[in-house]
Amino acid sequence: MRIDIISVVPDLLTSPFAHSIMKRAREKGLLEVNVHNLRDYTPYRQAQVDDYQFGGGAGMVMMPEPLAILLDKLKSERNYDDVIYMTPDGTMFEQKVANRLSMKENLIIICGHYKGIDDRIRQMYVTMEISIGDYVLSGGELAAAVVVDAIGRLIPGVLNDETSALFDSFQDGLLAPPVYTRPADFRGVKVPDILLCGDPKKIDEWRHEQSLQRTRERRPGLLED
Ligand code: ADE
Repeated sequence: MRIDIISVVPDLLTSPFAHSIMKRAREKGLLEVNVHNLRDYTPYRQAQVDDYQFGGGAGMVMMPEPLAILLDKLKSERNYDDVIYMTPDGTMFEQKVANRLSMKENLIIICGHYKGIDDRIRQMYVTMEISIGDYVLSGGELAAAVVVDAIGRLIPGVLNDETSALFDSFQDGLLAPPVYTRPADFRGVKVPDILLCGDPKKIDEWRHEQSLQRTRERRPGLLED
């Protein structure tokens, strides 16, 4: 999968993909992330990419021309499945959205700043708008990093134990069960006996029961869905 991210603060997007699972995905050639500095594509003087909004009001708006120049360039080079705009008024990002996006070939993600991007870019180019939560970030970069991380780890072959993503929280609509590692007795608190019993069927049943219980207690709304 190839993901092109458009940003005015590209440095914010260096570290999130340089470690751990994302690093491995890139090294294996399963995920290619290209971050583009929008200022490199502006036709305006002094690398201008934003301007005052028509109608007045506080805050700048990202101008359409630099975005269109870069989007046209990328789209002339390959076909993209989606042009995603990160925005608090987008569709809420959930595991099922990540699952769907992980099967795509090429994606563009636009990170907004200031008051956001000129609406004509949304009308003319954007095919999907994503919010990562009901709060406002100072830019779309951190939100884009969240989305790329959630998608990237789902690409087949990225996780060592391919089945492990199947047992993530939300993957079956439930929260994940509790997990334990050594020592079996930590400062007097013991690992549940059932996990040491060696019977995979019993362990699966216990985990499922724990998932249900956690979901009932913490996120009962998930069970209604
Ligand atoms: N940009 C600013 N806030 C955001 C949010 N909550 N989700 C996605 N993009 C954003």
